[in-house]
Amino acid sequence: MARHFLALHDYTKDELDTLLALAADLKQKQKSGIPHRLLEGKSVALIFEKSSTRTRVSFEVGVFQLGGHGLFMPSGTSQMGRGEPIRDSARVMSRYCDGVMIRTFGQEIVDEFAQYSSVPVINGLTDLFHPCQIMADLQTVIEHKGGYHGLKFAWVGDGNNMANTWIEAAAILGFALSLACPKGYEPDEKIMAWAQTHAPGLITLTTDPKVAVSGADVVNTDVWASMGQEAEQKIREKAFAGYCLDDGLIAIAKSDSIVLHCLPAHRGEEISDSVIEGKNSMVWDEAENRLHIQKAIMATLIK
Ligand code: CP
Ligand code: NVA
Repeated sequence: MARHFLALHDYTKDELDTLLALAADLKQKQKSGIPHRLLEGKSVALIFEKSSTRTRVSFEVGVFQLGGHGLFMPSGTSQMGRGEPIRDSARVMSRYCDGVMIRTFGQEIVDEFAQYSSVPVINGLTDLFHPCQIMADLQTVIEHKGGYHGLKFAWVGDGNNMANTWIEAAAILGFALSLACPKGYEPDEKIMAWAQTHAPGLITLTTDPKVAVSGADVVNTDVWASMGQEAEQKIREKAFAGYCLDDGLIAIAKSDSIVLHCLPAHRGEEISDSVIEGKNSMVWDEAENRLHIQKAIMATLIK
């Protein structure tokens, strides 16, 4: 049976550490021009039901660098977009391709696709999780901080797919995570409950960004309205007032803290221009690491 990458909770700490180590190795190889054609002759379908810049380019380039072929499939141009059942699409795609990446809405869509797929399925973002992104973020933290042990991670903003995935990462890998989310915009309750059982006391939730960011080593935020929530933009702007990652907030994190944002960013909303362009910002390394960690994930799963 194929092993998928749908959510971090399907992986152990050792497995995630191994993926992060392979990503570092592949990054070094790519920078040094050392061939690493681990997917020679393999095809990976890249299905998108939502927009993308980073995920699309990093997967497509990543497959190419591994010696394989990526098929960009925006759902509007396939039969999936016209309602062909997910289970039928999964079984058919498995007959042609060696792996599938999907970006879509409900987590149940990638779960069902994986259930019927005989080849590995990778979650390229759902409303619930963004596991490839958090792995790239962890790779960035390791590069700049030498590891993640003993660090304080802060999340400021929406309790969205990114926040949910950070919660899983903290519980599995064992680091402290403090989230500040406005009332009514908290992370998924079930994920929080799972994390509290899995790693009691490591994850805290507040409505005060200062509490979350105070003394933090890693400060992370994301847009206030995710893809699919565009109609709520105005309501959310009101609810998230005071949650902008600005110089005042960064000043209470550690002086050598690093700032992460998965991008795209809305400057002046969830993050100020001075912070995203400032000395603590590692967002460009973070974006680059999508390439390396996804190559590691694909090379590990696709046989
Ligand atoms: N961070 C991220 O997933 O970016 P894209 O939406 O551009 O793929
Ligand atoms: N939370 C954002 C992340 C974009 C990469 C969204 O889902 O739109």
